[in-house]
Amino acid sequence: MSQLVESGEAATAAQRPPLRTASWEEIRKLFALDPAAIHLNTGTVGAMPYEVLDTVDRVTREWTGGLADVYKPADYLEHRSAIARSFGVDLDEMVICHNATEGVARIIQGLDLHEGDEVVTTSHECYSVLSNFNLLRNRFGVRVKVITPPSGYDVRAEEIVELFEAAITPRTKVLSFAAVTLFTGTRMPMRALCELAQRHGLTTVVDGALLPGMLDCNLRELGVDFMACSGSKFQCGPLGTGLLYLRNKVFPEHNPLPLPKFWPVISTWYPILGSPPPRTTTSVASDDMALYVQMAGSASIAKGAALAKACALFDEIGRARIEHRIMDLADYARDRLVEAFGKDALYSPGADERLRSPLIAFHPFRDRESAWNVKKLGAFTGRLEQEHRIWTRWTEFDVPGSPHQHYAARITTHLFNTRAEIDKAVAVMARLADELS
Ligand SMILES: Cc1ncc(COP(=O)(O)O)c(C=O)c1O
Repeated sequence: MSQLVESGEAATAAQRPPLRTASWEEIRKLFALDPAAIHLNTGTVGAMPYEVLDTVDRVTREWTGGLADVYKPADYLEHRSAIARSFGVDLDEMVICHNATEGVARIIQGLDLHEGDEVVTTSHECYSVLSNFNLLRNRFGVRVKVITPPSGYDVRAEEIVELFEAAITPRTKVLSFAAVTLFTGTRMPMRALCELAQRHGLTTVVDGALLPGMLDCNLRELGVDFMACSGSKFQCGPLGTGLLYLRNKVFPEHNPLPLPKFWPVISTWYPILGSPPPRTTTSVASDDMALYVQMAGSASIAKGAALAKACALFDEIGRARIEHRIMDLADYARDRLVEAFGKDALYSPGADERLRSPLIAFHPFRDRESAWNVKKLGAFTGRLEQEHRIWTRWTEFDVPGSPHQHYAARITTHLFNTRAEIDKAVAVMARLADELS
């Protein structure tokens, strides 16, 4: 990557055109992309803009060997205020953390759950979510009910909401789901699931690893209680960065439920004696819960600043514009995949616009039994990378009624991709699949 960074035509803030009106071709130049590769794997890791890389370097140098207070900047007050604004919330609700995995662990381990309490989640969650709930099961006797969502082109949002609703019992306390699932790229009907949770008095824990930088979202209006996000995927910040949202005020029009009891398990700011004030019941905060979570020893100050830079660049381009661009490219890619492999090959939703995302999982081979053949899927994505420099990945997930997990190839489109890249990648994938079939 260092060679790439040196040879890249980095457009600095002073040189570049105003991003709000810049063309996508101009915007692509902001990113440290390998010109010889096609990056269709932002679902795993995005590409940093040069200005973000420069920020890591500059801030690291500013703090190295200095005698300044390194703990104060770990509160990231300015950065968090700006990021919170971008997602429609306030400083006391937004934390810069180290990745989605850390964020979701701090949320799940901070919930006030006890023996016999039940959590409803899905088998399509990231391992970071499922392992934390299983830890609660082993440690406290919390019951974890795991449902398997439907997959395929024709899935509809109502089916998913009905499945969750059927799983809720009087013991259920938490509903947990991804904003966008990583295995089949299903954009979950978040508002409908939050409304369902509210009707049953449940806390919502959302794995939003893929959300920032993809969706233009107002987290308050969604009505979610907690969300953990990755900074290095669609948001294109450095690896080892994340965002954590926690609802810290009650806005009845979005979520009338009382704030859930929460234990900030890693903190240097939570009182060392006595108890914090009771959580507010109104739209005025009684306490700064985000600061309890934010202040947790020395922090990756340079990476936090770089994540804030990435967020600022995306704000400047316009988050609604970015979402539109991403979805447009994804629709194009989905149509090309359907042409090449057939609609039945898709595990990702396509017919219901509400469920579509830029992560598209599909079965590339003629025989359906290969969906159980991890070696074949591994060879497919491995050869795409090694022989054609096309970066994708394979995923594995439960399918209702199937005795085995299915394996699929997955592509992800981001704002810097082009239709020409998609055309080329799909043509190569079709040839390679034929060869391997
Ligand atoms: C939906 C989802 N959740 C969580 C994660 C873990 O993210 P992180 O690497 O930021 O911890 C991923 C990673 O791909 C993901 O796709």
